Amino acid sequence: MYDSKIASFAKYVPENIVKNDDLSKIVETSDEWIFSRTGIKERRISISENTSQMCANAGKLAVERAGLSPSDINLIIVATMSSDFSTPSSACMVQKIIGAKNAAAFDIGAACSGFIFALSAADKFIKTGAFENVLVAGGETLSKMLDWSDRSTCVLFGDGAGACVLTRGNIGGGIIAEDLHSDGEKADALTSFFKPVNNAFCENLDEKLKYVKMDGREIFNFATRKVPLSINTVLQKANLSFDDIKYIVPHQANSRIVEIIARKLKLPMEKFFMNMDKYGNTSAASIPIALSEMVEQKLINEKDKIIVSGFGGGLTWGSAVIQI
Ligand code: UT7
Repeated sequence: MYDSKIASFAKYVPENIVKNDDLSKIVETSDEWIFSRTGIKERRISISENTSQMCANAGKLAVERAGLSPSDINLIIVATMSSDFSTPSSACMVQKIIGAKNAAAFDIGAACSGFIFALSAADKFIKTGAFENVLVAGGETLSKMLDWSDRSTCVLFGDGAGACVLTRGNIGGGIIAEDLHSDGEKADALTSFFKPVNNAFCENLDEKLKYVKMDGREIFNFATRKVPLSINTVLQKANLSFDDIKYIVPHQANSRIVEIIARKLKLPMEKFFMNMDKYGNTSAASIPIALSEMVEQKLINEKDKIIVSGFGGGLTWGSAVIQI
């Protein structure tokens, strides 16, 4: 058995900034409603780059920051719900763009929890000795999945990608503990890009089923119920207390969700990192974008322990204690 080590983080977000006031010109909404209900002020909306290109941009930088070259990467895992194609996978596209010619590559679909699930898979591949250097990316072009006439969803999401490199390391680092769950019974609470049976013998179905459709309240209640339990579970599994944890990095969906989680865990808000004000909800990209930004801002340093916690469509949720 080996252990894994997190060698680097990186992020890439498209240049185009869309502010809340820009959205109030498209749908009946306001900066006041969006900010007070979600904590979001602006988001990046891609004009040209698709998911694989953004993952490749973040991934290339993560590989460089790990002191490796693309040919050193043995496995690429991309977490996304907005892949460029159904096939090839975004991971294979990343392989092509960055020239990681020695890697195996595949995608993971666990919506906004995707990065945690991908990190967990990468960790196992390293721990079993199957692979040594794994590039994990979470990337989304959610803007292409949105109904831009539906104010209840189009104001929430943004585009971007984050990545990290996991390598073989010393016992005790990397992913210290994890807790992953799904509840397919609640699959209807968040769906996107339904691909119906469609052939010459079928009648046409409702085009709107393509777009992100969400029962916001249901997801809100599920997140505030399950995430505190999951955070407590990983903390116990790691045999640590909150004093040992530098930051909790939750999925960046809604600042009110984070406030309720903090209250339930009896922790101050300063323990939680939030940047949804700048990027909105970027689904699988939100946690690696946050971690990359925290490293860039020197908020976290080598040996710091962090809890990451994601939740979203599936339903899926999960947390991990990681060491930088
Ligand atoms: O990434 C993981 C998946 N997603 C999430 O985590 C999202 C979780 N859910 C949420 O963050 C919140 O439920 C939302 C932000 C989506 C909605 O907030 P809410 O406090 O649950 O609002 P609501 O859906 O109950 O809507 C309240 C009112 C409604 O009007 P009425 O029926 O009270 O007259 C909506 O029509 O706000 C209205 N509304 C809006 N008004 C202005 C909904 N969207 C908008 C909007 N601008 N963009």
